[in-house]
Amino acid sequence: MLPRRRRARVEDTSNFSSEVHFPGVAIYLAEPRMGRSRRAFLTRLARSKGFHVLDAYSSAVTHVVMEQTSAEEAICWQERRAALAPGCARPALLDISWFTESMAAGQPVPVESRHCLEEAVPRKRLPSPVRMPPYACQRPTPLTHHNTSLWKALEVLAEAAGFEGKEGCLLAFCRAASVLKALPCQVTALSQLQGLPHFGEHSRRVVQELLDHGMCEEVERVRLSERYQSMKLFTQIFGVGVRTADRWYREGLRTLDDVRGQVQRLTEQQKAGLQHHWDLSMPVQRPDAEALQQVVETAVVQALPGATVTLAGGFRRGKLQGHDVDLLITHPQEGQEVGLLLRVICSLKQQGLVLYQQHQLSRSRDPTHLTQRSHTMDTFERSFCIFRLPRPPGAAWKAVRVDLVVAPISQFPFALLGWTGSKHFERELRQFSRKERGLWLNSHGLFDPKQKTLFRAAAEEDIFRHLGLAYLPPEQRNA
Ligand code: CTP
Ligand code: MN
Ligand code: MN
Repeated sequence: MLPRRRRARVEDTSNFSSEVHFPGVAIYLAEPRMGRSRRAFLTRLARSKGFHVLDAYSSAVTHVVMEQTSAEEAICWQERRAALAPGCARPALLDISWFTESMAAGQPVPVESRHCLEEAVPRKRLPSPVRMPPYACQRPTPLTHHNTSLWKALEVLAEAAGFEGKEGCLLAFCRAASVLKALPCQVTALSQLQGLPHFGEHSRRVVQELLDHGMCEEVERVRLSERYQSMKLFTQIFGVGVRTADRWYREGLRTLDDVRGQVQRLTEQQKAGLQHHWDLSMPVQRPDAEALQQVVETAVVQALPGATVTLAGGFRRGKLQGHDVDLLITHPQEGQEVGLLLRVICSLKQQGLVLYQQHQLSRSRDPTHLTQRSHTMDTFERSFCIFRLPRPPGAAWKAVRVDLVVAPISQFPFALLGWTGSKHFERELRQFSRKERGLWLNSHGLFDPKQKTLFRAAAEEDIFRHLGLAYLPPEQRNA
């Protein structure tokens, strides 16, 4: 809590006319579905871009922004506010999409009906032709979209192709699925796919069947197959990849108990994964992720004052739940971060919070390993952990997967970009860099193989700019 005088000043600064670039727009971020820390983050982001964001709701508010909120809930919310402040002009009730588009544009975008929560948006037909650039990093992909069932079907086929080691097939389905996520409306006729990239014959056939019959025979067959179900079960175990899962399957294993029967052949990581399988198969909720970030942050700052912990991965993209918590650690002074992770793990262990951890030393501190072609995996110092999530007294504890990654500050923007995902977004971004720009990108840096130079960046925005891409905020990277 800040002292009273300081707090007043902090609120004042948001009203400085010199800071506010768009005087007609006063934003209020409604908290319920957003969560406090995300709200604080979005507020800082908007203010840094010259937007006027009010901490408290008042008659000055022109734009109310909500997340994951239905029209009914939004109207209820407004009605309660109106009762508290009768006579006030009613501000626009907007979905987060208006906010993120405005942040991406660097100015308030005009309010369109699709942004408005009050209007029950009729199912729009796709305007034709939809302009859809081929790479996922060239277009915004929000978290929630309009083609969930079509998308899920293609995801199943992509996943199944991955289980069979068919990389080309996996990519083709991932790309088509990702295009569906980026569409502004629901697909109701095959003709709407005309002119869209990455829709090959196979993906079209699947969509056609789903539109005609509400289900696709191939997808159902895959989904119900012993092979798909076992591979999915096995690859969800911490420490088990497709190769191991495939070997187990070929050896006749099908269930978790079958695997437990082979305990002498398991790695320590897999044993821990099995031991905590029940907890780890439940999604981690955002408040739990934020609580864990707090715990880690406290230990990090204690071990090295000034060091920072950033929530990356799906939660940074706005997801409300995930399979793990990805935390990125750095320190503003290059080199200070060396040795930090072991001290942090040690302190967390002493607090009884570590159920499992596997530490991996940084393999090289020199980002020029970008000069090697095999640059998909980064070599940061890291720890793959299972933490015991602290709960209020009396409540049962829960095991949670946590990835801790340490990046030197000079590589931090690249690490943050790389660890924010989504996986498909990252894959596309790297491919775009290589094929369209002749540059090699990974979580350490951006390398020009012709000039043999390394591009430096102070923020993610610099990387997008250097690649000639419009900046996409994390919540638009859900490709
Ligand atoms: N990542 C990486 N190197 C790894 C593991 C992950 O660079 N060894 C990156 C992935 O490319 C991804 C991000 O870290 O962009 C987060 O990975 P992950 O936790 O697997 O996925 P999320 O998108 O966070 O999904 P979830 O919410 O299910 O955790
Ligand atoms: Mn994650
Ligand atoms: Mn992860």
